[in-house]
Amino acid sequence: MNLLNNTVVSAIQLLPKSIVKRFALRYIAGEKMEDAVKLVSNLNSRRMLATIDVLGENVTTLAEASESTRAAVNVLHTINSNKLGANLSIKLTQFGLNIDKHACYENIRSIIDLARSYRNFVRIDMEDSSTTSSTLEMYERLRGAGYDNIGVVIQAYMRRSAQDVKRLVGMKASVRLCKGIYIEPEEIAFKRRDEIRNNYVELLNMLMEGGCRVGVATHDDVLIDAAYKAAERHGLGRSDFEFQMLYGVRSDLRDKIVARGNLLRVYVPFGEHWYPYSIRRFKENPQVAGYVFKSVLTGR
Ligand code: FDA
Repeated sequence: MNLLNNTVVSAIQLLPKSIVKRFALRYIAGEKMEDAVKLVSNLNSRRMLATIDVLGENVTTLAEASESTRAAVNVLHTINSNKLGANLSIKLTQFGLNIDKHACYENIRSIIDLARSYRNFVRIDMEDSSTTSSTLEMYERLRGAGYDNIGVVIQAYMRRSAQDVKRLVGMKASVRLCKGIYIEPEEIAFKRRDEIRNNYVELLNMLMEGGCRVGVATHDDVLIDAAYKAAERHGLGRSDFEFQMLYGVRSDLRDKIVARGNLLRVYVPFGEHWYPYSIRRFKENPQVAGYVFKSVLTGR
């Protein structure tokens, strides 16, 4: 993101939340579980799967971590009772990773246990680099305890990712591959668009060749084409991997992927803690930030 865009998005954070919310709704289902159910049902009717995320991260008390656990459990019950084509995405800092790793493990275990009883699946999102090692360690620990209905995320901008992928291939992990959204220092993260793309393609090939199930999470046409080619090269059928996209981004591309007969999963966040997630999305698309200011200036 260039300096001007950076400034525009930073300035948005000075605006009243009520204004920001109108634009944030482009990227989230709403604040309530019912909003997510409605949206996911609609996506399912158009042959798209979903992954539901209860918005929130970096809780500071174990009481909040327990509250997040109850919310995640409620999502799994709701997916089951409404027969939705959806799984659950979670962020470990929402369940106490930075407060008490043992409590976090127990919270996640209760969620994954329930998901297993419903034959459902839980994806652990990847957060900023301060949590990369602890997130992967938690994933390994859960796999070691016999849970195989979980997956993890690898960020192609991280220089360490090839090493991480080697370990994950050894575990035949289910991996969502994305570029990465947090701002990281150059010593640990690629910065240039071409470097990130090249690393993405390299990691994608390592994962597919190694027999991992991959969620190709991108809206970048270049990478989507690369994924089609990699899947063909490694002899993968349409059901052996899936594309994943964020709600509110490039619905044109979603439709094309589905029309081609490939699996497509949409990331559907909902909940009261929509603010940090929406600001990250605005950073990817400063044009929306421009709309927010236009709305403030014109009063519409
Ligand atoms: P890029 O940013 O180059 O976007 C390609 C094109 O898509 C753009 O040219 C534009 O047209 C469109 N686009 C992208 N973002 C947009 C936006 N916000 N609004 C409108 N148009 C937009 N990251 C992370 O660090 N940890 C995680 O766990 C996840 N999880 C995750 C799940 C899923 C399903 C997806 C799709 C993405 C993530 N990400 C993530 C985010 C990811 O790292 C990355 O920031 C975004 O996907 C944007 O990168 P692209 O690969 O889409 O490329």
